[in-house]
Amino acid sequence: MKNWIAVFSFSGRCSEADVDISRDVWIHYACMNPGTDFRQDRNLTKKKEGKIMAKVSIHPTNDFCPQTLFLYGTYDDEGQANFGLFCWFSYTWDGEMGVMACIGGNKLTRENIHKRKVFSANLVTEDLLPLADYLGNTPGFSLKKKAMDFETEEGRILPVPVLKASPVVFELEVRQFIPLKDGEVMLCGIRNVLQEDLLADEAESSAKKLAAIAPVRTTCKEYFGWDGRSLGAWGEPGKAVSAAES
Ligand SMILES: Cc1cc2nc3c(=O)[nH]c(=O)nc-3n(C[C@H](O)[C@H](O)[C@H](O)COP(=O)(O)O)c2cc1C
Repeated sequence: MKNWIAVFSFSGRCSEADVDISRDVWIHYACMNPGTDFRQDRNLTKKKEGKIMAKVSIHPTNDFCPQTLFLYGTYDDEGQANFGLFCWFSYTWDGEMGVMACIGGNKLTRENIHKRKVFSANLVTEDLLPLADYLGNTPGFSLKKKAMDFETEEGRILPVPVLKASPVVFELEVRQFIPLKDGEVMLCGIRNVLQEDLLADEAESSAKKLAAIAPVRTTCKEYFGWDGRSLGAWGEPGKAVSAAES
């Protein structure tokens, strides 16, 4: 009896792990030999001192759920490039792949996107982190940020500023604005993806390519390398840039 799918629901105590599982409904997709004890799979869950850890309920947070970081590039009314740091970014599917982005509060990036309906999303790497952190902690409305000079090029399809140093860039066109109480969700069409040519090398593994570009992830108000190293708390890597700016 191979290739079966089963839904198990039960209550009581798991003697093996001594953990109360009475509320759990275990949905177990398995392809295993008859007679295998499906409960053994739970051993894959986190253990501490040989015991399966219990969960605790906490206030809403996305701590321990790492996110990818992007610098959104827009042009302001004077045609000057502006970049802000963003992590509430993910993908959609509606016959083709799209992007969803959430911006909270009033900021220059949001204003610029509203006016022009286009922006670039530039993947943040370890090389870019000091600049990215600075741009994420310096409002676009401030004179300090306005005085910055970025190494940019023009998007290939859309009139958006693209950071030369970013290895992966989306050129995005907003198709739908969904206003919320304070923030806004933007559903975007991906008009173009720019990728550094080394990423197209089919002879190289994705693991090596990722290690080479070193994308930065964030959670718990901290930055992490692709290999899990801590790269500092929010506001730390950018100190080098603010010192150089002043
Ligand atoms: C790590 C990090 C992630 C951020 N992600 C977002 C985000 O997803 N959405 C948002 O509205 N602001 C986010 N911010 C805040 C903006 O980067 C910040 O408001 C910045 O000033 C925006 O640039 P602008 O003022 O030039 O528009 C983030 C800041 C940091 C440090």
